[in-house]
Amino acid sequence: MTVDNSQLRDEILRLKKEKNAVIMAHYYQTGDIQDIADYIGDSLALAQIAAKIDAPIIVMCGVHFMGETAKILCPDKKVLVPDLNAGCSLADSCPASDFETFVKAHPGYTVISYVNTSAAVKALTDIVVTSGNARKIVEQLPKDEKIIFGPDQNLGNYINSVTGRNMILWPGACHVHERFSLEKILDIKNDHPEAQILVHPECTKPLQMIADKIGSTAVLLKHAEESPCREFIVATESGILHEMRKKCPDKLFIPAPPNDSTCACNDCAYMKLNTMHKLYQCLKDEQPEVLVDEAIMERARRPIERMLEMSK
Ligand code: 13P
Ligand code: SF4
Repeated sequence: MTVDNSQLRDEILRLKKEKNAVIMAHYYQTGDIQDIADYIGDSLALAQIAAKIDAPIIVMCGVHFMGETAKILCPDKKVLVPDLNAGCSLADSCPASDFETFVKAHPGYTVISYVNTSAAVKALTDIVVTSGNARKIVEQLPKDEKIIFGPDQNLGNYINSVTGRNMILWPGACHVHERFSLEKILDIKNDHPEAQILVHPECTKPLQMIADKIGSTAVLLKHAEESPCREFIVATESGILHEMRKKCPDKLFIPAPPNDSTCACNDCAYMKLNTMHKLYQCLKDEQPEVLVDEAIMERARRPIERMLEMSK
């Protein structure tokens, strides 16, 4: 039987009510998933909301580490991700065994990990951060604190530059944010001289240098809403444009293009593995479920809770 999106929507809403489930979606999900979600947000907001949710089932429409974070914060709840293959190249760039070697090579250092990591890496961490709170959290640590930061070196370099710290960085990166074309962005800027350039801190230094605003997806969205500017070139995953256009229908949002294709947008293939059909199926079957080893879950909870406390 083939079902169209409006039938799927009705079925998802019916199942959600029947099972008392909550649907959460990251800004990089497709527009139809964002529109049906109870909550949308950046990585920080999703963690903050998950920590407070009172429902037996959470469907996390995002990537695997987001489901893990929700599960670590809500171990008694069933956490589902529509497609468990929705991984993250950045998290994959930091295997836990290698990170453990890195940590052991730096005794006496505070370990800060970006939320885009596996639960096993979080278990080796003192404080987790997101792109939305990394600066605020690092600034709360004493000036002379010795810090190692992983796995995103672009975010780490950015935090070093704005805080004057000298954190030692794990050499990881996100394949989506590293592939924006500076040249193509400057061409667009040439055609739209009034446009502001919005850049996610996972992007490389040259992009950060031409940015009018650097921040997490939520920070870029807020900036677009509050700025008197009418045009924006957006250098992060293109899913965020959906909410930007909804919130600011009279403004122009131009996706920054990648350097390796003829496509104008830059999508995260992992994020886009989740579809309305998989969301429906996962609510129906209550599968696939995110499961985390008990011992790892116990050790990974404290650094996430520290992040939530330090973000207040
Ligand atoms: P934020 O949600 O913190 O903006 O991070 C983007 C990201 O890459 C999530 O995978
Ligand atoms: Fe990971 Fe990059 Fe995709 Fe975000 S955009 S989920 S960092 S691969």
